Amino acid sequence: MSKDSLAQQNVIVTGGARGIGREYALRFADRGANVAIVDLDLESYTEYDYETEQMTADTVDAEIANRGVESLAFEVDVTDPRAVQRMVESVVDEWGTVDVLVANAGGGDGSMSDTHASELPPEHLRATVERNLYGTVYSCVAVAPHMKTQRSGSIVTVASQAGRTVLGDGTYAHYGAAKAGVIMYTKYLAQDLGRYGITVNAIAPGYIETGKLRSALESGGGSEVVEEQIALGRLGTTTDCAAIVEFLATPAADYVTGCVIPVDGGSTLR
Ligand code: NAI
Repeated sequence: MSKDSLAQQNVIVTGGARGIGREYALRFADRGANVAIVDLDLESYTEYDYETEQMTADTVDAEIANRGVESLAFEVDVTDPRAVQRMVESVVDEWGTVDVLVANAGGGDGSMSDTHASELPPEHLRATVERNLYGTVYSCVAVAPHMKTQRSGSIVTVASQAGRTVLGDGTYAHYGAAKAGVIMYTKYLAQDLGRYGITVNAIAPGYIETGKLRSALESGGGSEVVEEQIALGRLGTTTDCAAIVEFLATPAADYVTGCVIPVDGGSTLR
């Protein structure tokens, strides 16, 4: 069953308390959707001045409510499958359906200097695979029964350029491996859920300007270093990503499933 528009749709965004996830949430709210924010820390934006400066209320769920749609907020760790399950049940109890999941929570552990493929500390590997791959799988598995019953829904997972190609000198390998896992899982899930009319796609962002990325670039020689690797010659914005996620959740993308859309300005062309 096709969706008419994003208005009145019920959307879950994991990792929505700051950064790119916040932008997804606000974009859906601007289109008239109700949005549930799921995050380990609903005030995670306070970690970076760049994120804090963008906030127009104390939390992202308050920013959503200020747009005249309904919002929910859950302080949940996506690596805890039971907590994720309970969160989705609460959303469905409250709103009746879950129409869109953006499984965005993720990120890597450790630094560029201590995560070379040949020297990966087990604790960084475990935490990063759990956060990115397990967290994505748990979120998808929790919404799937509801979307199957509805015979509709859109799932967007969040990979990375690092899951598609090797960047730099073989560092941050755990993150690349975890995001490659997200990509392959997305394709399996698309195959599995296609018969129910549910679409499943991934976006693979490049260097997207967030508080976290700015902080990493500041300690690694500045943005010029990476801009040279990007065909379009600039960092990506959170709205560059939100535009594509919106597209994937609208009827315009009803016949698009199992795809990985790079949103990287061409950083993976070479
Ligand atoms: P971020 O670190 O600014 O935000 C991530 C949010 O997820 C935070 O609010 C954090 O509290 C939350 N989170 C982390 N672990 C969680 C957990 N276990 N359970 C629930 N929430 C959790 O990250 P950013 O930059 O906004 O990235 C968002 C997604 O996009 C991530 O999956 C990241 O790997 C991916 N990505 C980001 C890129 C970038 O350049 N910023 C590039 C490629 C991919």
